[in-house]
Amino acid sequence: MKRTLLYGVLIGAGFLLSACQQQVSTDPVARGDADFHALGCVKCHSIGSEGGTWGPNLTFIGFRKSPQWLDTWLKDPHGWRPQTVMPNFHLPDNVRADLVAYLASQKGQAWSYDQRPWNQPGLSGVARGKVLFNEAGCVACHSKDGQGGYPNNNVMGGHIPALTKVAEGYSKDELETKIREGVPQPASADPSQPAPMVFMPTWGKVLKPDEIDAVADYLISLDPSAGQQSGPNAF
Ligand code: HEC
Ligand code: HEC
Repeated sequence: MKRTLLYGVLIGAGFLLSACQQQVSTDPVARGDADFHALGCVKCHSIGSEGGTWGPNLTFIGFRKSPQWLDTWLKDPHGWRPQTVMPNFHLPDNVRADLVAYLASQKGQAWSYDQRPWNQPGLSGVARGKVLFNEAGCVACHSKDGQGGYPNNNVMGGHIPALTKVAEGYSKDELETKIREGVPQPASADPSQPAPMVFMPTWGKVLKPDEIDAVADYLISLDPSAGQQSGPNAF
């Protein structure tokens, strides 16, 4: 099947309109993969070992975020987080749906255990936990250095919590249990409104106990006096 795809892509100050005629797959995940490259998402985001580092690594994106949230984000990143530097691509509905299918399929399989950046030789303890925090994507919700402040809907305060003070509230065992089990069904601040779209994932499904131990050590090492992050590069 041949089809002409027209994407209006807004990048920074300039408008770039590219028309590409290509052989289109019948698989939405494969089409989303092609779009992810054609639209330049890969310049800012990595999946597995390929891609840029300006935006969060997306190897675990389909594990940590729901398709519903991904669709909301891609429709209007600034609607969710006004100060984000991620551009609004004004994607046609069918292209957005294919990208969501592709992203939702990324549950960490692009790396084997040994390929995960935090499992490289020479990394241990807090330093290893910090790499895990950033590359597995804890940073995409809890922000740089665990300083919190990333938006969520219908939660008290409107934000995902900072993690800089967990050493005061949790024993190490309790902390590891929290990370392993997550909070799959967070409480709504207002039960009459839609439930929060971002929730703490059940990390025990994808991380091994030694990995959870390393990220717990990292959280315990964080500076409890650090404030809430609100700048453009909060992730
Ligand atoms: C100019 C760099 C840049 C480009 C290009 C870009 N992004 Fe982003 N993206 C970011 C940044 C930075 C963030 C995190 C910012 C934030 O949350 O405020 C982000 C966040 C995301 C997230 C949420 C990550 C998470 O774990 O919560 C997804 C999904 C995403 N981008 C997908 C895409 C897709 C798909 C494209 C291409 C259509 C794209 N991005 C293009 C910079 C970019
Ligand atoms: C998709 C977003 C998201 C990601 C990714 C995420 N978290 Fe969370 N996390 C949350 C939310 C939301 C809460 C608040 C849960 C609640 O109580 O409803 C939370 C709570 C926590 C808490 C408890 C904080 C407290 O004050 O009680 C810890 C600890 C934590 N996360 C650690 C982590 C670690 C470690 C990672 C990475 C391995 C991670 N989180 C990744 C969303 C996320």
